[in-house]
Amino acid sequence: MKILLDTANLDDIRYFNTYFPIEGVTTNPTILSKEGGDVLAQLKAIRDIIGEDKELHVQVTETEFEKIIEEARLIVDYLGINTVVKIPATDVGLRVTKYLSDRGISVTVTAVLTAAQAMLASNAGASYVAPYISRSENLCADGVGTVADIAKIFEISGTDTKILAASFKTAKEVLDVAVVGCHSATIGSHIMKMLLSHTTTDTSIAGFVRDWEGAFGKTTLLKLLKEKNK
Ligand code: E4P
Repeated sequence: MKILLDTANLDDIRYFNTYFPIEGVTTNPTILSKEGGDVLAQLKAIRDIIGEDKELHVQVTETEFEKIIEEARLIVDYLGINTVVKIPATDVGLRVTKYLSDRGISVTVTAVLTAAQAMLASNAGASYVAPYISRSENLCADGVGTVADIAKIFEISGTDTKILAASFKTAKEVLDVAVVGCHSATIGSHIMKMLLSHTTTDTSIAGFVRDWEGAFGKTTLLKLLKEKNK
């Protein structure tokens, strides 16, 4: 399952883009509002950090068809290739999705809570649908089950639309959607860190260091190899 980073924080994006195998960055109006300041400069800085080969998903804020189209085109013009426009799953959103997709602009249909919404978004030509996991589970609905249903529907239809699961509050939710066939997930910094860190990994590494130093002191394998090659 491919991983994207769900934040607009530049320090976090720099860190995860350096160390983690991320495929891109997703934002929404709430995520951008947390950083404040000059939003266009912020988006450009994100693009500069991740480069033009990774995806940057940016959500529209307009609500009328013509204005969304204009906004979407300007977003893509401004941020370049591999920019994906996020469109909420509404009736206008489906119309916009069809219009933009037919003209070669990639769309993520976002704020998806049901498999029915995902199916309609796929039929409208969306590149991605973004089912919200924790927002769904918080309402006692089955967010992970919804992803499983979407995966099955997409497999049967043979659509090219990919699932980009979003809105995670636990690391387990991320694994749960991966197991049911989710293609990609966008994950906030806090959850991303939790996917990697484990206390037993830390104590294991400390044990390797302790045992090595106990036997060989401060010399390292690198030093030994370099000396041998002199
Ligand atoms: C994707 O970018 C979604 O907008 C985001 O994951 C929503 O997350 P939230 O439910 O934590 O706001």
